Amino acid sequence: MISKSTIEQVFETARVEEVIGDFVQLKKAGSNFKGLSPFSDERSPSFMVSPVKQIWKDFSSGKGGNAVTFLMEHEHFTYPEAIKYLAKKYNIEIEETEQTDEQKQEANERESLYLVNEFAKEYFERIMFKTDQGQAIGLSYFKERGFTNETIKQFNLGYCLDEWQAFTDEALKKGYQLEFLEKTGLTIVKPDKKFDRFKGRVMFPIHSMSGRVLGFGGRILTSDKKAAKYLNSPESEVYHKSKILYGIYHAKQSIAKEDNCYLVEGYTDVIQFYQTGIKNVVASSGTALTPEQIRLVNRLTNNITVLFDGDAAGIRASLRGIDLILEQGMNVKVCGFPEGEDPDSFAKQNTLEELTSYLNDNSKDFIQFKASLLIKEANNDPIKKAETIRDIVNSISKIPDQIKKEIYIQECSRIMDISEDVLFTTLAQINKKDAQEANKTYKAQQKQKAFDVVKSETKAPKIDLQYELERKIIEILLLYGTETEDFEDLVLKETEDGELQLEPVIHSAKVFEKIYLDLQEDEMQFTNPNFKLLYYSIIDTLHQEPEFSTRNFVNQLDQELASDVTTILMNDERYRLHDWERNNIIPKEKKHTIAQLVTQTILTLRCFLIDKKVAEYQNDTLSEDSNSRSILEDVKDYVGLKMLLSRKLGKVVGGKV
Ligand code: CTP
Ligand code: MN
Repeated sequence: MISKSTIEQVFETARVEEVIGDFVQLKKAGSNFKGLSPFSDERSPSFMVSPVKQIWKDFSSGKGGNAVTFLMEHEHFTYPEAIKYLAKKYNIEIEETEQTDEQKQEANERESLYLVNEFAKEYFERIMFKTDQGQAIGLSYFKERGFTNETIKQFNLGYCLDEWQAFTDEALKKGYQLEFLEKTGLTIVKPDKKFDRFKGRVMFPIHSMSGRVLGFGGRILTSDKKAAKYLNSPESEVYHKSKILYGIYHAKQSIAKEDNCYLVEGYTDVIQFYQTGIKNVVASSGTALTPEQIRLVNRLTNNITVLFDGDAAGIRASLRGIDLILEQGMNVKVCGFPEGEDPDSFAKQNTLEELTSYLNDNSKDFIQFKASLLIKEANNDPIKKAETIRDIVNSISKIPDQIKKEIYIQECSRIMDISEDVLFTTLAQINKKDAQEANKTYKAQQKQKAFDVVKSETKAPKIDLQYELERKIIEILLLYGTETEDFEDLVLKETEDGELQLEPVIHSAKVFEKIYLDLQEDEMQFTNPNFKLLYYSIIDTLHQEPEFSTRNFVNQLDQELASDVTTILMNDERYRLHDWERNNIIPKEKKHTIAQLVTQTILTLRCFLIDKKVAEYQNDTLSEDSNSRSILEDVKDYVGLKMLLSRKLGKVVGGKV
């Protein structure tokens, strides 16, 4: 593991504007930088980088964070990969924390396997380009398939000499240990001899998401019926066939940008598509997709288009694996090719424009496609038709999203000319075991949905006051949490003649303590779940670290919360960026009035909560009048409190009481 001090050093050294500057053209805009969003195609810049706050925000996609999250979003690095990248960029030596001997050995072993693979990749490339046999056999084979030199180099294609142990000998000579050559499967070791697994084959290195070579596929060049056309590396510490997709390293950016991933079967399909100009493509390497592979894609997009060869068997085979993709909540489209063609051959014969329009015209929603295909087959055979219905509904039942499920039922009812009732009944049968459970969450979701809709509707013309106030509190905590301020509290005092009167009392406190105590006094809970998490997390951090920095704070949040924080912090810049009219409910006060801002926000929130309570009580009195008297009493109390608070608020804002 990378040591904490290395991570800290990386965060201290890395400048977000420099890191992002390597990927996005940034222009100075006031104290910030702006540029075109790298996450969407846009004409006017909505991507902001703040050197002061060391954060970035992309207003077109809503993403935001620090230098590390940028690399994770843009380069699809894992956290350690991003740290390592930055360490390299800033010449920071990476210190690894003490590992147990076992961990060390494991890490060393994995590292050794990577090194052997890396060496092999370079060796096979060199052999293909620099030897007569390599050029005459390997290179000319790839040229024959229509691959350009550039493509061949991009995918690090190579050739393994048709000799028993040319590669193994070279590797041993270079000091690589036989143990690791065997474990990567590059060398097959027998008691009496050792030889190269990929003898006489053209080589396709298989890269991880971050570009390391995990293993190889090797294609035979002779038409030997007994030998397998493709040979792959065996499973090893670094190569797990079920967890990787061929081409993912080359495709990842394009997948995220296009928000779609084409899935093909073979190595050459990927390469040919890529060369033609469609780069968001990966291959399952001839096997059914695994959940791990789907999740790999799902990190980048929610949409997948499965391409299959132009034969009936191909279609049939594809249909089966697809339910698994639906189960992961992805939207699936399918697209076939003309009889006798596969994606490779089709892409080879067509231009980018032709290929693109073919894909656009022929990609069909999976469930609709399956329904029309199967119903055609079932034709007038009632038994077959019943089977078909169950088959389709079974696919639909895999979709986690209930709303989508319902829409599909409606669609399929139309396509197959069967009543929705029948389909829903079938769905219920399939779900029999967990029908009740499903129904419960369905209702809850429906409720939630309805609530969401109402909320966003009221948000557009009218401001959702509670949301704004909760957001404001988070903003104040982030910006001024550690400041010490003089707060003027109005307390009720009894005068000599027994009257109650508000009197100002001044006391000094840290902003976050004041907020925390006031909210606690009211037993106030945040309604927005993210704000609630943030609130407690900020308060905790502030209690522990007197030197609170928003930058460090953002660094330890998960992506979603970090994005919320950057949205809050960048809000000002956003308005400046678009020169939009400000629409704040509370006039933004500058530093000398922090105390006012705090008091005002909390009081406004209190008033709001009281109004809400009163409204609730009024509803209750309408429905049950048995205890309406005590409710009325409560309401009176609340109204009194509200008046008091309004007076306080008036004082704070400086108006008349
Ligand atoms: N495959 C494999 N082992 C085999 C055959 C196929 O691992 N014996 C995998 C390879 O990843 C291959 C994919 O399945 O790319 C698709 O197989 P296939 O359609 O037979 O090959 P193509 O990709 O069309 O290969 P080519 O065009 O080179 O014949
Ligand atoms: Mn092919």
